Amino acid sequence: MSNDRHARTQAIHAGTRRSQYGEVSEAIYLTQGFVYDSAEQAEARFEETGPDEFIYARYGNPTVAMFEDRIATLEGAEDAFATASGMAAVSGALISMLKAGDHVVSARALFGSCIYVLEEILGRYGVEVTFVDGSDLGAWEAAIREDTRAVFFESVANPTLEVIDIEAVAKLAHAKGALVVVDNVFATPVFSRAISQGADVVVYSATKHIDGQGRALGGVVLGSRDFIRGTLEPYMKHTGGSMSPFTAWIMLKGLETIDLRVRAQAASAQELAEALEGHAALARVLYPGLSAHPQNALAMQQMGAGGTVLSIDLKGGKAAAFAFLNALQVGVISNNLGDAKTIVTHPATTTHQRLPQETKDLLGITPGLVRISVGLEYTGDLKADLLQALDAAAQA
Ligand SMILES: Cc1ncc(COP(=O)(O)O)c(C=O)c1O
Repeated sequence: MSNDRHARTQAIHAGTRRSQYGEVSEAIYLTQGFVYDSAEQAEARFEETGPDEFIYARYGNPTVAMFEDRIATLEGAEDAFATASGMAAVSGALISMLKAGDHVVSARALFGSCIYVLEEILGRYGVEVTFVDGSDLGAWEAAIREDTRAVFFESVANPTLEVIDIEAVAKLAHAKGALVVVDNVFATPVFSRAISQGADVVVYSATKHIDGQGRALGGVVLGSRDFIRGTLEPYMKHTGGSMSPFTAWIMLKGLETIDLRVRAQAASAQELAEALEGHAALARVLYPGLSAHPQNALAMQQMGAGGTVLSIDLKGGKAAAFAFLNALQVGVISNNLGDAKTIVTHPATTTHQRLPQETKDLLGITPGLVRISVGLEYTGDLKADLLQALDAAAQA
């Protein structure tokens, strides 16, 4: 399909490959192998694989290729490689491009598994990593060196929702020849303009908004054709982190509705953040869409919205946060995000439990902090639920 169609149209049609049966919904090619017409054809395909030729599902599969083409079109990237999980995407993007002796600069505020990859795994293989406060451009400038091969950050940090200036960090990185790798989960493909803002590689956990209904783990790496096919694909196809065809089908179906879902969730999150701001039981409401958020202007310029997640900090600390969680009747206590169901998380004791206390203090992951991934329920019901749970927490 022509590339000038609106993103909502592309999200439904881009990348579709119809079989001879003319199916409306994308076919699930649940096969790990492909039959060749002749030994000569097999030999030729192993020498060079064309865009619609497949060898083995770890290398590529028609359903997975449909998902890769669709998300690449939406993101404005030349190409994409779909992975078994978001962490396969993050680790694959980084490990495939780095070697011993390289230097990486990373924002400090990261999802726990990303910190493990950067600190433990890359360190073990001789890659030096410098962590900086991602919202401090001076810190990026001071840390990026001539031998810096890559910079890495979540464009909106989990769970404290600081926004990192992709364009400004990309300028600093590119001046030293470093690649910019952005984990864009919180921005979502709907609000992302990361490639046009200077990112070289964009990574998503598809487990979040792309699926959007809590069914499957998946991930995707997007970037130039050279990087995806020349650097990432050889690493992924030989180490085994490829997406399964069934998962790709779920993600294709997820993309069909992502624009409507994410916009509705973000509108709800904005309304809830505004309703909770200034509540007597709360020390802080963190949401990039609030004018009081320190990077509100940047969030609007970079994403055009505040996103689907907000965090609140209860004055009563852990006891109040737990009482709040336990009183919820609509929101569920869990740790995913981007789901149709509102998911409420206590980062200090779950997703970020393993961080040393001093890092939690540095990042602002306080005992009272609660992350709310806003779902698709009626906003009025969510507001009532959050307010009654805050009342219950106050009485606890
Ligand atoms: C910002 C971020 N990056 C990466 C991941 C990893 O994704 P997955 O769980 O699909 O491996 C997550 C969540 O789990 C996340 O929140």
